[in-house]
Amino acid sequence: MRIDIITVLPELLKSPFEASILKRAIEADLVEVHFHNLRDYTTDNYKTIDDYQFGGGAGMVMLIEPIDKCISKLKSQRHYDEVIYMTPDGETLNQGIANTLSLKENIIILCGHYKGVDQRVRDMFVTKEISIGDYVLSGGELGAAVLCDAVIRLIPGVLGNETSALTDSFQDNLLAPPIYTRPRDYNGHKVPEVLFSGNFPKIEKWREEQAYKRTKERRPDLLDE
Ligand code: ADE
Repeated sequence: MRIDIITVLPELLKSPFEASILKRAIEADLVEVHFHNLRDYTTDNYKTIDDYQFGGGAGMVMLIEPIDKCISKLKSQRHYDEVIYMTPDGETLNQGIANTLSLKENIIILCGHYKGVDQRVRDMFVTKEISIGDYVLSGGELGAAVLCDAVIRLIPGVLGNETSALTDSFQDNLLAPPIYTRPRDYNGHKVPEVLFSGNFPKIEKWREEQAYKRTKERRPDLLDE
């Protein structure tokens, strides 16, 4: 998989890709991530990327021209499955969207800033709009990092134990059950006995029950879906 991220603040985005699982995925060539600074696609001396809104109103709007230049250059080099725009009015990110995107070959992620991009960018180039939640960030970069993390860890081979993504919370619309490790008794706080029974069908059943109980208590909305 290849991900091209278009941003005015590449330095805000880079560190999540320089540590841990994402770093290893990149080093193992399971994913390529490229950053494109929008200012490199401006044509004036001031490297202008935004301007005032037509019709008046507070906040600057990102210009279509540098975005067009950047996206067109990328598209001339390869086919893209999706051009994703990070925006608070997009579809809210969930595990299903992450699963679907993890199967794509090449994607572009466009990070918005200020009030956002000229509507014509969305009309002409964007194929999918994603929000990471009902709150407003100062730019799409942190959202793009969240999206990339959720997607990249699902690419086969990225997680050490391939089954571990399958047992994550949300994969079956249930939250994950409680988990324990050593010590068996911590100052009187004991690990549930069933986990030492050696009876794996019984342990599996216990985990399913716990996952259901936890989901019912914390996220009953997931059970309605
Ligand atoms: N840009 C600003 N706020 C955002 C959000 N909630 N999700 C994605 N991109 C954003």
